[in-house]
Amino acid sequence: MAQLWGGRFTKETDRMVYDFNASIGFDKRLISQDIEGSIAHVSMLAKQGILTDSEKNLILKGLKEISEDVKSGTLVIDESKYEDIHSFVEATLIARIGDTGKKLHTGRSRNDQVALDMRLYTREQVKETDALLKALLEAILATMEENTETFMPGFTHLQKAQPITLAHHYGAYFEMFKRDRQRMTDIYRRMNYCPLGAGALAGTTYPLDREYSAELMGFDGPTLNSMDSVADRDYLIEFLAALATIMMHLSRFSEEIIIWNSNEYQFVEIDDAYSTGSSIMPQKKNPDIAELVRGKTGRVYGDLMSLLTTMKGLPLAYNKDMQEDKEVAFDAMDTVKDCLTLFTGMIRTMKFKKERMAVSAMNGFTNATDAADYLVGKGVPFRDAHGIIGKLVLYCIEKNTSIDALSLNELKEISDKFEDDIYDAVSLKTCVNKRLTIGAPGPEAMRKVIEQNKKYLAENEIIG
Ligand code: ARG
Repeated sequence: MAQLWGGRFTKETDRMVYDFNASIGFDKRLISQDIEGSIAHVSMLAKQGILTDSEKNLILKGLKEISEDVKSGTLVIDESKYEDIHSFVEATLIARIGDTGKKLHTGRSRNDQVALDMRLYTREQVKETDALLKALLEAILATMEENTETFMPGFTHLQKAQPITLAHHYGAYFEMFKRDRQRMTDIYRRMNYCPLGAGALAGTTYPLDREYSAELMGFDGPTLNSMDSVADRDYLIEFLAALATIMMHLSRFSEEIIIWNSNEYQFVEIDDAYSTGSSIMPQKKNPDIAELVRGKTGRVYGDLMSLLTTMKGLPLAYNKDMQEDKEVAFDAMDTVKDCLTLFTGMIRTMKFKKERMAVSAMNGFTNATDAADYLVGKGVPFRDAHGIIGKLVLYCIEKNTSIDALSLNELKEISDKFEDDIYDAVSLKTCVNKRLTIGAPGPEAMRKVIEQNKKYLAENEIIG
């Protein structure tokens, strides 16, 4: 047990206490960020004359070697010996370069150190998530471009409502994931300030140049209150909330794919590479990836709730409770990245059964609204038209037929306003093609949106 704080103590820590207190098992993944932060800190200390250049060079060399050796596997992080990643790096540095290594922590506390490490790590995760969202948007847009005239039913209450196109349906998800990307940008901008130099909570008496440290690590500047700097986990909460929202979107999309893939619908076929079989029922091909993405949504919500609850009621500034931020944050980050990657692969390879989708769009009176609108065009007030078409639908249900299959005589019995042009007015093509308001499924309207979204993708590179 190599502790950084033994001086004040007269007894060894109890083993179980030590293990309970330790975070090395999960914060070891912060090693690159920890070393990057130390490199910036030492460079700043030397610039300020707090360390000599030769001390700086010795420490930097030692830090870089630790980083390389851990990467190559020649240096193994012994979890039983170190409390956290910060202790590991510092103790290893001292063991390797001697007393100069003991100067690394001048003007720094583990409180601002861990605050920095988590920010650096999270900043990278925000970028990676943004890149995966962009890849998903590209896959969605590719499907939209090919399917501006692929008809399918649109639903409300999971009941057939009005006909739409596949491009239109996918377009809804494009907007959702576009907002998710915008959230990434917002979070990145808001979090990109450097807490290093806040010390334990009250800054330090050394003449640190916090602006310089911030600049070295690509931050927009230093944070402005040293208490807040070590106590703030808002950026993590915001990120987890954004991740939870991504999962909510992925889960809704997954649910639809599961429904479309069902025997009853058969709108899509998921590629073999993204489905699994049953150990007992040979006919099965299950949409496991979509189901798991839907399932893992609960887990990411849990991560967010856990962190919010941990932070609730913590007095300023640092409290050990905050060490609990890591496992849940890492879990959410890992889970969402996996889900985005697999989901994108699944929809890229999924096949659409366009015939079935079109037939389904024609059934279920999806043209009833258009039939009512037709009568409005012939001078019938909308409310009356609604009632007439309601009767017509009832008549069709009794006769087990559809509006467009009725003869003009049958139609005229219900309203003498019906003419020959009714058939064209209620055809699937007309129903969709005439919906041309901005954001509607009509192919012409849709193509304009697709162009706009293409431009959006071209103009919005991955953050950073
Ligand atoms: N492992 C700690 C954490 O993750 C590092 C900070 C420790 N600071 C302290 N004062 N005990 O929060």
